[in-house]
Amino acid sequence: MNNQEAYNSWAAIYDDNHNKTRDLDALVTQKVLGQYTFENVLELGCGTGKNTVWLAKHAKEIWAMDFSSEMLGKLKEKLDTNKLNLYEVDIQRIWPIASQQVDLATTNLVLEHIQDLTFIFKEAARVLKSGGTFFVSELHPIKQYLGSKARFETGGDLQTLDCYIHHISEYLEVAKRTGFECVDLQEWFDDNNRTLPPRIVSFVFTKKD
Ligand SMILES: C[S@@+](CC[C@H](N)C(=O)[O-])C[C@H]1O[C@@H](n2cnc3c(N)ncnc32)[C@H](O)[C@@H]1O
Repeated sequence: MNNQEAYNSWAAIYDDNHNKTRDLDALVTQKVLGQYTFENVLELGCGTGKNTVWLAKHAKEIWAMDFSSEMLGKLKEKLDTNKLNLYEVDIQRIWPIASQQVDLATTNLVLEHIQDLTFIFKEAARVLKSGGTFFVSELHPIKQYLGSKARFETGGDLQTLDCYIHHISEYLEVAKRTGFECVDLQEWFDDNNRTLPPRIVSFVFTKKD
């Protein structure tokens, strides 16, 4: 099963199965992006819309992209608004939106499935207005070294998805090279317990003039 097929299969239970990373990411997103104002938002790998629903309360218009028709189907069931433009696309190809269209681009728990971060950051730089914000929230690479991976159970079988480890230094280097400044980097822990390995790393990048 490739990742697209796996997410099509996972969609039925994605919102309901036990998933500490998904739940912590929702808190992280609201805590960090709650400090920003934005009007036009691009969400990459929106999935079933856990964060899209929250973004829609704060944005004038949203462009949301994902390559899983089943994940997008779940999002459509929970968010019916003419603010939302949905695209069933692979984000590793040129994104179907105009340059300098958004003031916030956001991606959550997606980049572990993307080998080439440079393409993603270059496209983010293209579609963001000058001074715009790129928010990234991902499974912490430390968790990946310890064996954590996107996975789910179906019919008694464990399905594990294809993942890549991106070191924190890689995010920072790619961001710098593609015209971004990192203005916030945080590590997030289960139950705020800093004696355990961090589960999530979040970055806020600003597009430089
Ligand atoms: C772990 S889910 C996260 C969904 C959502 N962002 C959230 O935080 O709940 C990863 C999502 O990324 C999407 N995805 C993975 N690789 C992708 C790609 N190359 N192009 C578009 N979507 C992709 C999957 O279909 C899935 O919906």
